[in-house]
Amino acid sequence: MSNQTTHKVTLIPGDGIGPEVTQAVVRILEATGVKFDWDRHAAGAEAFEIFGEYIPNALYESIEHNKVALKGPVTTPIGGGFKSINVTLRKRFDLFANFRPIKNLPGLETKWPGVDLIIVRENTEGEYVGLEHEVVPGVVESIKVITEKGSTRIAKFAFEYARKHGRKKIHSVHKANIMKLSDGLFLRCARKVSEGFPEVFYGEHIIDNTCMQLVMNPYQYDTLLLENLYGDIVSDLCAAFVGGLGLVPGANLGADCAIFEAVHGSAPDIAGKDIANPTALLQSAILMLRHLDEEAAADRVQKALEQVYSERKCLTRDVGGNCGTTQFADAVLAAMG
Ligand code: NAI
Repeated sequence: MSNQTTHKVTLIPGDGIGPEVTQAVVRILEATGVKFDWDRHAAGAEAFEIFGEYIPNALYESIEHNKVALKGPVTTPIGGGFKSINVTLRKRFDLFANFRPIKNLPGLETKWPGVDLIIVRENTEGEYVGLEHEVVPGVVESIKVITEKGSTRIAKFAFEYARKHGRKKIHSVHKANIMKLSDGLFLRCARKVSEGFPEVFYGEHIIDNTCMQLVMNPYQYDTLLLENLYGDIVSDLCAAFVGGLGLVPGANLGADCAIFEAVHGSAPDIAGKDIANPTALLQSAILMLRHLDEEAAADRVQKALEQVYSERKCLTRDVGGNCGTTQFADAVLAAMG
């Protein structure tokens, strides 16, 4: 991509630790020399206070126009209150693929060194369609929706990614022994898609067994293909292999738009203290740079990030250091030269 291109990107700092990690990441991105035109928007409770809406129209319009967003975490009330901002945005822009690479950073000791997993999670269906109702007092139904279209396109995404990036194996993760129709359809679609990719091994594992297998030996897997709820849970489990939620990136991808965000939440327990780890959002921003065809800048930030971890002089508390968010960003900037 030419140095002259200015990328218009919707920026949602979010709340809790969101603004702190976003500020750190924006500083680093601006130092790459790539030109950004940030269109900042509030979401969630903060937006409600200002505009009386959890997702203001201007935010929808901004993403519709820019097609790319970088998003910090937004607090979602549990058991009531407003609907998840993340789920709403994913549905509105049909961001059907949740993509999470799980890879160790150098210098960061974990129980499982050398993990290299790709999680591909269906992002718009399953239990997240929000169809819950009380049948009679004391009885609630929650509906899981699986469609042929949704299952086929997420399977295609996983196989096409595997082909392009030389990944060798894909396992569909399911519970079709119990949810015979819904997970059964998900599997049938994945099997059919797999026939067009003979160079990629295709396997199927039941979700509970997969969790045990992962903890026993994560190296046996390469790419995991999951419906929404299983993907949500398994991706956090896998984040633990490489040091936890403060590190792992995520991308929500659709045919037209993409939202890049950290896997972690708003971490109210550490918000406002300048101690959060901005690595997860930074790694998501690296995915965004690649999406924008800014490969050289992505490589430069990645190398600097890896250098900071290898040197172990300035790490945040969650990974055993004593540096703050701002100091950590300073160290990455210094490593970029
Ligand atoms: P959380 O991810 O916010 O926190 C879990 C634990 O990990 C906490 O101990 C926290 O301090 C730590 N942690 C998370 N990110 C960290 C970072 N960058 N650096 C250092 N430590 C970090 O999960 P929790 O507590 O379940 O959720 C809090 C809120 O965030 C909830 O309202 C939830 O709905 C929301 N949430 C939002 C997401 C998003 O906007 N993408 C994703 C997940 C949760």
